[in-house]
Amino acid sequence: MIKKWLPVIWCTAFIIGLTGLHYSSTAFAENLADGVYTVDYELLQGDRDSVSIANDYFAKPALLKVKGDKRYMQMTVNHSEWVKELQAPTGDQFKDVDVVGEDEEADTRTVQFELENGAMEAFPMKMHVSIEEMEPVYDHAYTVRINVDLDSATSDEAGWIESSSTGFTGTTLLYIVIAVVAAALIVAVVRLTRSKKKNRN
Ligand code: HEM
Repeated sequence: MIKKWLPVIWCTAFIIGLTGLHYSSTAFAENLADGVYTVDYELLQGDRDSVSIANDYFAKPALLKVKGDKRYMQMTVNHSEWVKELQAPTGDQFKDVDVVGEDEEADTRTVQFELENGAMEAFPMKMHVSIEEMEPVYDHAYTVRINVDLDSATSDEAGWIESSSTGFTGTTLLYIVIAVVAAALIVAVVRLTRSKKKNRN
């Protein structure tokens, strides 16, 4: 008997779990309303709170976008030619940031990434720096930390460069998953009720 109800129990547990995950991840978003802000930030050394050499190669301020339970940052690299790769944390891993703007003449590049911790504290960023014209060639991989001053946040809707990755948010995906699981749940219940009726007949 209980076997029949197992899919229903699993689906319910899944929905409850997903909802819990959703609400725990929205906790940090409460301080800033949805919108775009300029924010001051600093690149700190990987293992101490001193300002990193890399700090000079990033234009200030950056832009912070708050959208529901998500936060994104856009910042511009000077000497784009030298900074070959930039990676932001996603879970236990690092992922290449998205490039949303480039100006070859000015040698700048604007990148965007999601702030998993909402920039509530300094977070790591990996970079690969390669300066071919130096003798010997300067070629290093570093991990620095980015410290965003959330108190400096000033509303600035105009500056954000729209890109496809902020249009379709994880929240949308979550709602789709919940809808699909809920539909499966309804089908399971209907089938169960029907088979019960059949058995009685
Ligand atoms: C003009 C070319 C450059 C020279 C001559 C140079 C030189 C150096 C030297 C000597 C160090 C070791 C000294 C220390 O640890 O304080 C260092 C570390 C470092 N460099 Fe460079 N660098 C150059 C360009 C860059 C660029 C373009 C970046 C990144 C955008 C960068 C990022 C770093 C980082 C992250 C460290 C580790 C220490 C820290 O975070 O401050 N460097 N660099």
